[in-house]
Amino acid sequence: MSDEKALISALRGKASAVPPMWLMRQAGRYLPEYRALRAKAKSFLDFCYTPAMAAEVTLQPVRRFHFDAAILFSDILVIPDAMGQTVSFETGSGPRLDPIETPEGISRLGAFDITKLSPVFETIDRVKSELPADVAFIGFCGAPWTVASYMIAGQGTPDQAPARLFAFRHPEAFSSLIDRLVDASVDYLVRQIDAGVEVVQIFDSWAGVLPANEFEAWSARPIARMIAALKTQRPNVPVIAFVRGADAQLPRLTKTLHADGYGLDTALDPKWAAANTAANVCLQGNLDPLALIAGGAALDREIDSILGAFAGRPHIFNLGHGILPQTPIEHVERLVERVRGARD
Ligand code: CP3
Repeated sequence: MSDEKALISALRGKASAVPPMWLMRQAGRYLPEYRALRAKAKSFLDFCYTPAMAAEVTLQPVRRFHFDAAILFSDILVIPDAMGQTVSFETGSGPRLDPIETPEGISRLGAFDITKLSPVFETIDRVKSELPADVAFIGFCGAPWTVASYMIAGQGTPDQAPARLFAFRHPEAFSSLIDRLVDASVDYLVRQIDAGVEVVQIFDSWAGVLPANEFEAWSARPIARMIAALKTQRPNVPVIAFVRGADAQLPRLTKTLHADGYGLDTALDPKWAAANTAANVCLQGNLDPLALIAGGAALDREIDSILGAFAGRPHIFNLGHGILPQTPIEHVERLVERVRGARD
């Protein structure tokens, strides 16, 4: 047996009888210990930028559930914040940014000031020294399209139409924003890696609203460029691409993005994903967060069908999207037991 962490082995293409597991947004409001600490922070961004607090909430879900990975506690919108855009989080209604309405708004953005993110690297340093030896540490950022969609609209919308409209009206300006985000995100992930994360995940949460041509231009190609740059600069660090809503494009993405793992969202049929990707490609996912809220027989059935679909291939058990605040803790405990006990 090697002493490689289970999550890293899966990302290197090795299958195991019990898949490693973690949950997207595993540090969050469903945990009472998270809510207690969150109540002490002035704002959500202050919370992210206070290393003692951010490190503590990164570790909370690992302590409670013994997941195989910790994910850095931060947010994808720290990049616009470090470009000088005003970013805040309204309790209950999500992020608010000063929207970008014109090409001039893009040229007015500041240079990416990575020093503003030094608390994030300090958080990584603190977590690293406290993580159990077999737990992998995941860093992350948003994909250029998803981050740009918040920068243009100033908030989440049902379909991020403001950014799509902006890209049709001002393709050059939009393209320059995407380019800047590619560069900033690569620099940011490289610094996270140098501070101590061992795997990075790129979240393209809004890829699914893009029709084919736009998907290629704004989601797939920028992510491929990011991964190529990361592989040049830090070749040994596995990259997970979570292209939410990629749908039928998934098989092609597994051949063109050159990531080490691919996150599947809730909508994908695990059996179809397994049948339409090479057997050595590591797939991550994809329990419906609503099944985790429901619990009981429905939860058991969903877990078993995912385990069955990915048996014999490299797989990381996860949700198909972030865990929801109303998720009962006992259901998460049940999930961990069932996945780990699956083949005892
Ligand atoms: O996974 C983890 O536990 C690490 C932390 C993490 C957060 N956000 C903390 C957070 C990660 C990986 C993210 C990623 C993120 N942030 C994404 C991509 C993943 C996804 O869910 O699609 C996106 C689109 C964002 C932007 C964002 N941040 C939104 C839309 C919201 C509001 C919605 C919500 O869940 O409240 C946030 C706020 C946010 N980011 C919270 C947390 C724990 C909740 C804020 C709070 O506790 O007050």
